Amino acid sequence: MKKIAVMISGGGSNLQSIIDSIENGDIKNIEISVVISNKESAFGLERARKAGIDTFYSNDEVEIKNIIQEYGCDLIVLAGFLKILSEDFIDYFKNKIINIHPSLIPSFCGVGYYGMRVHNAVVEYGVKISGATVHFVEVKADAGPIIMQECVEILPEDSAEDVSKKVLKIEHRLLPKVVKLFSEDRIELIGRKVFIK
Ligand code: GRF
Repeated sequence: MKKIAVMISGGGSNLQSIIDSIENGDIKNIEISVVISNKESAFGLERARKAGIDTFYSNDEVEIKNIIQEYGCDLIVLAGFLKILSEDFIDYFKNKIINIHPSLIPSFCGVGYYGMRVHNAVVEYGVKISGATVHFVEVKADAGPIIMQECVEILPEDSAEDVSKKVLKIEHRLLPKVVKLFSEDRIELIGRKVFIK
């Protein structure tokens, strides 16, 4: 049984999508061992508790590292975790951290592009498609190898709120899909390329 740690900062709807996929049997051979939030009031912590998952609130990377090690996690999933992690932390868990970003990387990503800022930029630019990306985490923000992407049509009349809703819907499919592939050992990273076996 593989073990994952999920790190969050907010609502945790992406966390919920993984919880649901495990509970309904779509993802097997994996458990969410622990959920860690850098915000004490994050609603995602409640979602985790409700699912019987251990939770921690911490802003201290050394403490977070110890927790993840103690639980023996094979993968760390950043699901709306809004704090930039240090080089030390990322190097320590090399190729074991994945993140979901609410745009089609390399557009609308990098430092400063988080939450509604991403969707505001998408609307301002007037692009016709946006989407979601799951990628490995490297020191440079949102720049690690891409595991999977899915796109959504953007209409000229869409507000940032509309885009956010459309993209979130995709995220809730995409992230469990990647976790499932991980649980089946089907993600292979060669250089910057990710192969799905
Ligand atoms: C998602 O859009 C995710 O891509 C971004 O932050 C949002 C988190 O939503 N990184 P939730 O907390 O999973 O509901």
